[in-house]
Amino acid sequence: MKDQSKMPLMEALERMRYERLVPFDVPGHKHGKGNPQLTEFLGEKCLSVDVNSMKPLDNLCHPVSVIKEAEELAAEAFGAAHAFFMVGGTTSAVQAMILASVKSGDEIILPRNVHQSVINALVLCGAVPVYINPQMNKKLGIALGMSVDDVRRTIEEHPLAKAILVNNPTYYGICSDLKQITQIAHENGLRVLADEAHGTHFYFGKDMPVSAMAVGADMAAISMHKSGGSLTQSSLLLCGSEVNANYVRKIINLTQTTSGSYLLLSSLDISRRNLALWGEETFEKVKNFAQYARDEINAIGDYYAYSKELINGDSVFDFDTTKLSVNTFGLGLAGIEVYDLLRDEYDIQIEFGDLGNFLAYISVGDKNKNIERLISALSEIRRIYKKDNENMLETEYISPTVVISPQEAFYAEKTSLPLAECGGRVCTEFVMCYPPGIPILAPGERITREIIAYIQYAKEKGCVITGPESMDISRLNVWRGE
Ligand SMILES: Cc1ncc(COP(=O)(O)O)c(C=O)c1O
Repeated sequence: MKDQSKMPLMEALERMRYERLVPFDVPGHKHGKGNPQLTEFLGEKCLSVDVNSMKPLDNLCHPVSVIKEAEELAAEAFGAAHAFFMVGGTTSAVQAMILASVKSGDEIILPRNVHQSVINALVLCGAVPVYINPQMNKKLGIALGMSVDDVRRTIEEHPLAKAILVNNPTYYGICSDLKQITQIAHENGLRVLADEAHGTHFYFGKDMPVSAMAVGADMAAISMHKSGGSLTQSSLLLCGSEVNANYVRKIINLTQTTSGSYLLLSSLDISRRNLALWGEETFEKVKNFAQYARDEINAIGDYYAYSKELINGDSVFDFDTTKLSVNTFGLGLAGIEVYDLLRDEYDIQIEFGDLGNFLAYISVGDKNKNIERLISALSEIRRIYKKDNENMLETEYISPTVVISPQEAFYAEKTSLPLAECGGRVCTEFVMCYPPGIPILAPGERITREIIAYIQYAKEKGCVITGPESMDISRLNVWRGE
């Protein structure tokens, strides 16, 4: 057992700070002295450790000393054979695990409700997606997990598939049966990749859904900057014992910066220590906060803050109770409308709103009084803004038809058409509401009238839609090949 109270990277930075090193290297702000405005804004302490790699601080691309030690501590804390510190967000961790597992023409099995970073990786490497359509909870308008039978059948139908990717959990807190899926995949020679952008706490909290490393999955992308408390953009990539970590490092170095930020790296080191020493009690508090808020919000009426009652033994195998996901259909308002009202009228910023739900992110940084403020704002919103819910769009899962691979579509010859005229054509770009960043359309998929209606409705309701070249989403680039 390693000493998890140590922070090798942070301690090396402290040593450097007290050595009063004279910098003749980049960054050019030279410990903040060359940019007083920035130093005043961020603070001298912060700028003094915004440095470049140097011998005593190791090098992220080829770690041999303090970064290596810090990564080893993280690996042990997460029960992994190897951990990589990532500075390009969980996007970079997701992309590295996919690029390390599949290549051009290989099949990868995945649910369709993945984050855009997953399909972006397929554009980069040329692998072909085999989608398992997630089950849908129509009452809530959310996609659930993958059913084990669907996974088994898809693997049988695609015996050459190389990997399967699982969301653990989804943004809304839904978990598939990762243990069984891992077992079935391994029996059939597939690598198991877990997108755990929303599951850092599974490794430390009590009575949480299972984590990828605990059930023997091969790789996991972890957003330390979400529930783990580190700085935005800092993440981890975990590997199991069957994965060649030295090959994974080469893949990471294909796209990773050669100037990894020590602010981000030290935040990973410090947060790992906090999680290893105090994670269990921290997430107990978060669960209690979320449960309290859920009970109070459900008592208001018309809102539905859901939880473990959704569990059905398969497509909702488990639920992450730290997530405060709330359905708003009963109120006659889209989740994004409640999101906008909270922000504009009550100065409350929540994580995201979609057409029928919103997610308020609860963490150890919350205070009772803030939770009370959210609850009373929601109560007032119901009193003032509640509407008839007759004209709300029922969110059906729109099963995608993949005509060509994401890579082929992305680089294909294209024509730009007004959105309303795109029906029947093949899309060559992404269209998604951000957050949650799950593509409504991915490159290579057939555009249908239903999808156009969905995009138009989401625009009307005020969702931030991203992806296409046309910034106002009035047009889409479609494939010229048909
Ligand atoms: C499921 C999922 N995977 C990956 C990511 C990418 O994370 P990042 O924003 O850190 O790049 C996100 C971001 O929200 C996500 O929701």
